[in-house]
Amino acid sequence: MLPDTLTSRCLLFLPSIIAVCGAAACPCEEPELCQQIRAQRDFEVFVFDVGGKTWKSYNWSMVTTVATFGKYDTDLMCYAHSKGARVVLKGDVHLPYIVDPNNRTAWITGKVDLAKSQFMDGINIDIEQAVEEGSPEYHALTDLVKETTDAFHSAIPGSQVSFDVAWSPNCIDKRCYDYVRIAESCDLLFVMSYDEQSQITGDCIATANAPLSQTLNGYDQFLSLNIDPKKLVMGVPWYGYDYPCLNFSQEELAKDTRNKIADLHQAGKTESAIGKQLGVKKSTVGAIIRNWKTYKTTDNLPRAGAPRKISPREVNIITRTGPGRLICVKERMNGAMYRDILSENLLPSARALKMKRGWVFQHDNDPKHTARPTKEWLRKKHFEVL
Ligand SMILES: *[C@@H]1O[C@H](CO)[C@@H](O)[C@H](O)[C@H]1NC(C)=O
Ligand SMILES: *[C@@H]1O[C@H](CO)[C@@H](O)[C@H](O)[C@H]1NC(C)=O
Ligand SMILES: *[C@@H]1O[C@H](CO)[C@@H](O)[C@H](O)[C@H]1NC(C)=O
Repeated sequence: MLPDTLTSRCLLFLPSIIAVCGAAACPCEEPELCQQIRAQRDFEVFVFDVGGKTWKSYNWSMVTTVATFGKYDTDLMCYAHSKGARVVLKGDVHLPYIVDPNNRTAWITGKVDLAKSQFMDGINIDIEQAVEEGSPEYHALTDLVKETTDAFHSAIPGSQVSFDVAWSPNCIDKRCYDYVRIAESCDLLFVMSYDEQSQITGDCIATANAPLSQTLNGYDQFLSLNIDPKKLVMGVPWYGYDYPCLNFSQEELAKDTRNKIADLHQAGKTESAIGKQLGVKKSTVGAIIRNWKTYKTTDNLPRAGAPRKISPREVNIITRTGPGRLICVKERMNGAMYRDILSENLLPSARALKMKRGWVFQHDNDPKHTARPTKEWLRKKHFEVL
């Protein structure tokens, strides 16, 4: 019989032998920093890191998870672990490929192995593909999330599997996923409460990136599916869009035309059919229907709220000519433009509120108007919020 001391020594040595032979050596100064994070948090502050060294200026007393969308950075992993924060992989796969269960298993195994070899704490699944309800991809995606979660939890105890969803579960951008079952199997749903005007590439009507009432409406829809609010993490945009003006519409549509659009929409007509019937541009029909669905009114659209502050150029146009409806193209602003606009418009009001860098960019761009109702609403709903 082996003496007790020998038994325990063998057990102690075993992991280090595996560490040397089976996996990459720990890159951290302190080997224990390579251990995955196990503690569960009541409150998640989930960050998407897109590379570079910006992570050095995160407020690490708040961050709980960093999803690495940039190059893997061992310094970031070691540092995050020293602060008790998780570092998770990005997971994306072409859905038709993983309809085949063998391919799915191969993909999952690859991700688990990659996470383990890089001492990471889970995965953020970011599939933003269109899926038809009931299609093979629909079921494959649901299975993928379940199987990935099971595989990660068993291979890396305490690991976290999150899934990115659009601002509403209502087939946004044709993403008709099984939100209920996906939410059941993963640890967190990251709700992308931004790009709420969808992935438009052509002409459009200027609209806020994350309008307040629409954003809250989206969460109500998730909650009405009985999705656990503790699993919902609210994603907020720290960016905006510029809307270079193409044209003004000739005139506001008459009230009865707007009402007719809503009626025809309810009767199941498509936007282009309605447009043809009434001689109105399809984009205008779409905007009126969106407005009607969100606010239950066909009253004139909120006019170009975002560009008013975002782009000083448009301010001039609006004040010179009065508030016509702007027909615009949506362009992601570059960093320099955004910084100018922030310093000219937004940072002063943030400063006036004694906020440093943690405000929510929304609706009319005035945190004074949005912060309190948002917080109230979230508190009422017992949310975990970023
Ligand atoms: C970091 O967050 C903590 C907790 O909210 C806060 O007290 C602290 O002031 C923040 N630090 C900086 C530099 O903003
Ligand atoms: C499964 O993977 C194989 C090999 O990578 C690939 O050739 C095949 O097309 C995949 N199956 C499907 C249904 O995409
Ligand atoms: C601007 O609007 C007018 C009137 O609706 C139209 O004739 C013209 O083609 C539009 N121009 C552009 C660039 O869309």
